[in-house]
Amino acid sequence: MANAIRTGSGVQESQSDTIAAQAYDLSVGYPNDTVASGINFALPIGQAMALIGTNGSGKSTILKTMVGLLAPRSGKLTVFGGRPTASASRIAYLGQFHNAGFILPLRAVDVVSMGRFPLHGLTGKMDSRDFDICMEALRTMGAEKLADIPLRSLSGGQQQRVYLAQVLAHRADLLVMDEPTSGLDAGGRELYLQAMNSELRRGASLLVATHDIREEARLCQQVMLLARRVVAFGPPEAVLNTETLLETFGIVIGGDTGAAVPECRHSHTEGEPAAAVHKRKLFRIR
Ligand SMILES: Nc1ncnc2c1ncn2[C@@H]1O[C@H](COP(=O)(O)OP(=O)(O)OP(=O)(O)O)[C@@H](O)[C@H]1O
Ligand SMILES: [Mg+2]
Repeated sequence: MANAIRTGSGVQESQSDTIAAQAYDLSVGYPNDTVASGINFALPIGQAMALIGTNGSGKSTILKTMVGLLAPRSGKLTVFGGRPTASASRIAYLGQFHNAGFILPLRAVDVVSMGRFPLHGLTGKMDSRDFDICMEALRTMGAEKLADIPLRSLSGGQQQRVYLAQVLAHRADLLVMDEPTSGLDAGGRELYLQAMNSELRRGASLLVATHDIREEARLCQQVMLLARRVVAFGPPEAVLNTETLLETFGIVIGGDTGAAVPECRHSHTEGEPAAAVHKRKLFRIR
């Protein structure tokens, strides 16, 4: 885990020029409800981290806190060395739910161009380079042909590709994405992985809430397992094992299909404990 120094109580402060985001004993939640506490991590610049957990475990709440939509309940959170709102223009945020019901019939390319707003302001003029960047982002997500179609006429997966193109068009330093592959078909998921690898190579950092354990494990250097508390945190090969997944989800996630299967129904090699088989399969994900 590069740059993050783990201690008994969490992660010590690191230099802000190498760390995109850092949490120290962070609690997140809403006015009358602390959703998760004891969150400690350091996300190095150019690396990716996944939040994985059950429905209602706090993934979206953490991401909203990361981008300044919610204030921390307690503890400390820094993004590029300051408060999240101080770096708003450097962060691209993809929320879990999107509004396709615009009053004006915005075309897909118009929605992607919103990804350029943080660089120009709402009233700033976009030039041909901005337009090229938006078209390239749509192309990256295999959605170039959708450019002139009203967003609300597109399917759910097509809309998701457009919103991912919006994130790419930002060319942000930190991408915070809530279930980015939701609704995507197999081709879309592959394009997403390629796009994210390219963002990492560009030097961007990624923080992703997801249910796609295998896919994100291919992408992320760090994984946090959540169940309204931090069950485990660290590199995927250390964190994703039978015990932690069972503790998080109440069932074992594994098998050749990647589907969630109850532990008792999973067949295994004679003489080899089921846990060892699950662990071996999970380690093949990278
Ligand atoms: N606006 C809100 N006000 C109060 N409580 C909320 C609000 N939004 C979410 N919660 C609660 O916070 C908890 C965590 O919700 P959160 O949306 O972070 O879960 P999640 O891990 O993203 O789940 P999912 O996988 O279903 O998206 C849930 O118990 C939820 O009911
Ligand atoms: Mg969520």
